Amino acid sequence: MNELSEGQWIAACTTDEVDDTFGTRVEIEGGDAIAIFRVDNNYYATADRCTHGDASLCDGLVEGKSVECPFHMGTFDVTTGKALTFPCVVNLATYPTYLDGDQIFVRIDAPTTIPSLLEEQES
Ligand code: FES
Repeated sequence: MNELSEGQWIAACTTDEVDDTFGTRVEIEGGDAIAIFRVDNNYYATADRCTHGDASLCDGLVEGKSVECPFHMGTFDVTTGKALTFPCVVNLATYPTYLDGDQIFVRIDAPTTIPSLLEEQES
């Protein structure tokens, strides 16, 4: 059994469609768009929509592991989904990725969101 035999994997995009400066937006039929990021030649998938407002994170600049929202400049760690700077306090959903040659697959039925700081304080 290979890694793609379980779950709902989609062929999101190819590696040449992703660079280190911006995320690549991928529309999901019947769902919310996702963003593909490249960090140190690894590929990560997150929700594309900022958790603070209606901004596409693929319009924001990527620096290292961090993407800056184009609306109010909050930042997220694209490798974990963690909200890094105000006004972003709710973490992003992330999705498993799998690379096969130059094709990036994303398992869209298995989003994960690490607890946000506020949720950690309440528990
Ligand atoms: S909409 Fe992203 S920081 Fe406000």
